[in-house]
Amino acid sequence: PASDPDLVARARAAKEALGEKVFVLGHHYQRDEVIAFADVTGDSFKLAREAAARPEAEYIVFCGVHFMAESADILTADTQRVILPDLAAGCSMADMARLAQVEDAWDALVEAGVADQVVPITYMNSSADIKAFCGRHGGAVCTSSNAEVALRWAFEQHGPDTKVLFLPDQHLGRNTAVLELGHSLDDCVVWNPFRTSGGLTSAQLADARMILWRGHCSVHGRFSEHVVDELRATVPDIQILVHPECKHEVVTRADLVGSTEFIIRTIENAPAGSSWAIGTELNLVQRLANAHPDKRIVFLDKTVCYCATMNRIDLPHFVWALENLVAGNVVNVIEVDAETQKWAEVALQRMLDLPG
Ligand code: 13P
Ligand code: SF4
Repeated sequence: PASDPDLVARARAAKEALGEKVFVLGHHYQRDEVIAFADVTGDSFKLAREAAARPEAEYIVFCGVHFMAESADILTADTQRVILPDLAAGCSMADMARLAQVEDAWDALVEAGVADQVVPITYMNSSADIKAFCGRHGGAVCTSSNAEVALRWAFEQHGPDTKVLFLPDQHLGRNTAVLELGHSLDDCVVWNPFRTSGGLTSAQLADARMILWRGHCSVHGRFSEHVVDELRATVPDIQILVHPECKHEVVTRADLVGSTEFIIRTIENAPAGSSWAIGTELNLVQRLANAHPDKRIVFLDKTVCYCATMNRIDLPHFVWALENLVAGNVVNVIEVDAETQKWAEVALQRMLDLPG
C-alpha cells in the first residue's frame, strides 16, 4: 500500500532538520516506506561497515533488527548513539542462543576434553553477549557474505583437529561447511541446548568437525524442497536463487545460493527475459521484482511470510524516533555495556580483518 503522505512529509522534514547529525541505515529486508529514507541500504555485513565509517553522524538510526543495532553500537564511537525505531524488532534466530545456554555447552565441551580444539563462530544474527563469548574464546563473527572465509580461518586455528562451534544458525553452518568447504554431512552434529550434553555422546563430539547450534531463521527455514521440485516441474527454465539460511535440502536443489547482497547482484546482472524464483525475505523479493520488470521474478513459496520483526520498523515508528530527535529527546538508544562491547568488538574485528 502507498505510504501515508502526511507521515512521508513529516519524515522528510525531520530528516532535513537533523541534517548531517543523523545517518539512516536500512537493511534490505525493510519495508519500502522505510527504505525510501535510508542513506545507505545493505546486508548486515555492509551495514556494520557503514556504521563504523560514519564518525561524523551523532545519531545512527538503524532500520533493521536489534542485533544489527547492537553491532553498530559496538563498532561506532562512544559519542555516537544508535537508535532502533521499535525496540520490539528482535530476531527469533538470535533469541535461539542465550549466553547461559552457550556457556553450558562450553562447559560440556571442556568436560568432554575437546574445548581446546573448538573455535566458536557466531553468525552476525546473534546477541552482543554471544559475540563477546566468541571474542573471549578465540572465535569470530561471520555474516552470510563471509561465512566461508570465516570458517576457513577458524579451521586453521588449531591444526587438523580443529572443530567449530557454529552459532546460532545450523543451516548457514551446515551449508557453508558442506558446500563451500567440502565437509561431509557426517562431519556435522547438532547441539540441542534443551538436552543434556546437547543430546550428543562424547564419541559424536570427538568425531565431529562442525558442532552446529540448533537454531534457524523463522523465515528462511520455512522454504521447502517440495516447492522447489514443483516449480522445476512446472516452469522448466526457472532458476532458483536462495539465501544460505535455507535448509540444506533447499540449498542443494537451488541453482545459486548467497547473501542478500549476492542475490541483488545476481538479479541486477541477469539477462532480460530470465525467470527466477527467490527464497529470501519477501520485502526484498518484491522490491527486486518491481525494479526489474524485464525479468520474471517470483517469491519461492507463497506460504512463507514477511519477517515479522523486520516489519515492525514502519513509517510511524521511524517518524516518531526522528521527531523526538528534533525535539532533543533521544529515544530507543541501543547501548551495549562496556565489558560485552570490548569482547564483542574483538570478535567483530576478527571478522572485519578477514581477507576479501
Ligand atoms: P544478511 O543480511 O547477512 O544476508 O542476513 C540475512 C538476515 O536474515 C538478516 O536478518
Ligand atoms: Fe532474524 Fe530471519 Fe528475520 Fe533475519 S529474516 S531478522 S534471521 S528472523
